[in-house]
Formats: sequence, C-alpha cells, structure tokens
Amino acid sequence: MTTLEELKGIVAIEYALPTYYIPQEDIAKHLKVDPNKLKIGLGLQEIGVPSSNQDVVSLAMTAVHNLITKNNIDISKVGRLEVGTESNFDGSKAIKTYLMDLFPGNNTICGIDTTNACYGGTNALLNAINWIHSPFWDGRYAIVVSTDIASYLNDESAIPTAGAGAVAILLGNDPVFVFENEMSHYSSNEKDFLKPKDCYPYPVMDGRLSVDKYLTAFQECYSEIKKRIHDNFDYICFHNPFPKLPQKICKSYNISEDKLRMSNLIAQRNGNSYTPSLYFSFLSLLYNAKEKLKINQKVLMFSYGAGCMASIFILRKVKQGCICEDLEERLDKRQKMNIDEYFKRLKDGINLKDYEPNDSVCVNGFYLEKIENYFRYYRYFNKTVIQ
Ligand code: CAA
Repeated sequence: MTTLEELKGIVAIEYALPTYYIPQEDIAKHLKVDPNKLKIGLGLQEIGVPSSNQDVVSLAMTAVHNLITKNNIDISKVGRLEVGTESNFDGSKAIKTYLMDLFPGNNTICGIDTTNACYGGTNALLNAINWIHSPFWDGRYAIVVSTDIASYLNDESAIPTAGAGAVAILLGNDPVFVFENEMSHYSSNEKDFLKPKDCYPYPVMDGRLSVDKYLTAFQECYSEIKKRIHDNFDYICFHNPFPKLPQKICKSYNISEDKLRMSNLIAQRNGNSYTPSLYFSFLSLLYNAKEKLKINQKVLMFSYGAGCMASIFILRKVKQGCICEDLEERLDKRQKMNIDEYFKRLKDGINLKDYEPNDSVCVNGFYLEKIENYFRYYRYFNKTVIQ
C-alpha cells in the first residue's frame, strides 16, 4: 500500500502580488460608468497594478523565492521548473531561464515556458505532475510558476478586469494535495482573444465572445467530469476573470454557493491575473477555509485559456498543510495608485531595448533594475523601501 510519504502532488504554494491597487470606484469615475456596474455587475472591488520596476519575471522570481525560503527547500533538490505565461516580452528567451538565477550551483533543471492565454500555468502544472508520475522522474521536486500582467489601454469595458501577479507551486512526495485520476478537457479554434506581436503588451479581443467561449468550455468539461464523479466534490475554484462569472455558472448548474464563495477573494481585490488566476482562487480558498477544508475533501479546478483550451482537474487533500495565513495583510499592504498616473504609464509604455524604471516603491521582493540592450537585470529588496 502507498504510504502518505510516497504519494505525489502539491507540497506547498506561494505567490507574489503587484505593488499597487486601484479601487473600482476610481476606474468607474474615469470611465464615466456607474460603480455598481463594476462592483455588483462584475463583482470586482480593486485591480492589482505592478510598479514600473515589476515585470512578469520579477513577479515570478519573488513567488519562487518565497516558496523556497518559506519551505526551506534545498535548491539542489529541484529537478524541474516550468512557467506558464502569456506576457513574455521576448519571442525566444523563456522566463524560466531568468529564474535559473535563483538556483546557483544547480544547472540540471529541466522544463521551460508554456503559452496559451490563461491556460499556460495549467499546462505547466499537468506537465510537471505527469513527469513526477513517469519513469523519467529523478526523485527531485518540480516547481510550476504562473506569472502575468493583464492590462488594457483602449478596450474600455475590459479595463476594470485588469490584474497581475505570480503563483509558484511545489510538487513532490509527501504532498498536502494529490491529483485525482478524473480529468476532462476541451479545446477548439476560437477568435475571442489573441496577442499579435505588434500589439504587445495588449490583447486584441472580443470580450463578450470570450465570455461565451468560457461558458461553452465549462459546459463541455463539467458535463464530461460529472458523468464520472457526479456531485462528489466539496469546493470549486475557477479561472476567475471577474467573480460574477463563476457565481452565475454555479447558479445555473445548481452548484451550491458555499462551494464557491471562499475562492473569490483575490479575484475581487486583484482582478484577472491571467495564468495565476485559478491558483489565486485556490489560495483564496486555502486562506478562507483553513481547517474547514478537511482531509479527503476534493476541490474541482476549472482552467480556461482563450483561443481556446480548458480543463477540469480535481485536487484531494491528504494531510494538513498549505496554510495561507497572511493573504489579506499582503493585499492591504499594496499602495493605492492614482488613476491618471495609471493611464499615463500605460500610454507611455516602456522602451524594450533600454530602460531604467523610476518607481521608488517595491515591497519585499525582486525588482527590475534596468534593461540594457534588451537584456533585463534584477535585484532583491529584503525590506519595504518607500522614498
Ligand atoms: N448596477 C449593477 N449591475 C449593472 C449595472 C449597474 N448600474 N450596470 C450594468 N450592470 C451589470 C449588467 O447587467 C451585466 O450583468 P449581467 O451579465 O448579469 O447582465 C454586468 O453588469 C456587466 O455589464 P456588461 O455585460 O454590459 O459589461 P460590458 O459588456 O461592458 O463588459 C465584459 C463585460 C465583456 C466581460 C468585459 O469586462 C470584458 O471584455 N472583459 C475582458 C474579457 C473577459 O473577462 N472574458 C472572460 C472570459 S475569457 C477569459 O477569461 C480569458 C481572459 O482572461 C481574458
């Protein structure tokens, strides 16, 4: 019989939030819409906004650094590192390669980046868990990072759903959550969302069509998984572009609101972070449920990436752990950004060849020091620096 130590799955999870937030009231005022449309109609309270010295690499570095230090991980015991993102600024160099600076002395780590809208992190996670269950596994940990920055310049109805952040997940033996065997997938060729290189960093999208496709993907994945598990799950986490969407889905599929409620917190307060969104829902559940999430309880996870690719997989808790204690404290620590400053930064953009950020605020993490002839250089703050 397999002992608890021999099981394989999620051992720990950590994250990085952007430095700033903007309340939806300020966005509503700027867009000249009723704040209740954003707060009640979409279910959003704030968006998360990175500082000018935070990018997808620095967010990912901070999340991985938090994961390693808080769980005392021996970096020589990491054998795979995968990144899911749709915000890479480079057509060739993977974000994973930047993260190798966090593993001095260990250049034997396989894995690389995966991209398809908000789904890349899930593909990376499934790659990594498949590796751990395969004959190719070398017995070391896998780390999976989802990192993205979502921002919209001209697409006014999407602006309230912007967000950012990174989540890092540690996989290995003696886990807190295992992956159940049942999974369902849905993929098709859709014209709802894409990021042509000449539009970087903004998407070209049809927001309403993307909602329709998300609903179709859920319908297909859920009907398939239900044939096998019926209603045998205790909680549900969604890729959460705005909390009203999962709420409406649960209502129309007769899924109890109690299974969903606790996973909405980060989406409400940090917006849609793309690939990390589903894993921020999971972190919100861990934070809110605490010991209410019991051994052998199951969490149904719905991942959607426009374009499109979607999956449902199920996590089962097998031991205590993965405690997420200070989530609200970390959300509260973000600084408020002035809305005019936000749009100025979006309009100005950054020079991708040579750039020195002028932001003086960075909280507990890695930051982008400069871009020199396209190469990016990062440094670490070990305390809050506000000048
Ligand atoms: N008080 C309360 N509610 C109000 C209101 C008021 N004063 N005014 C309007 N509302 C309600 C509306 O009735 C509507 O609710 P229902 O859907 O229940 O009717 C809700 O507020 C939103 O109103 P609209 O549908 O008119 O909003 P919109 O069309 O301006 O924008 C959106 C909605 C298209 C989703 C837009 O936010 C968007 O483009 N978002 C980005 C795309 C996205 O989030 N897609 C999700 C699925 S795809 C995906 O997840 C990939 C990804 O990450 C991008």
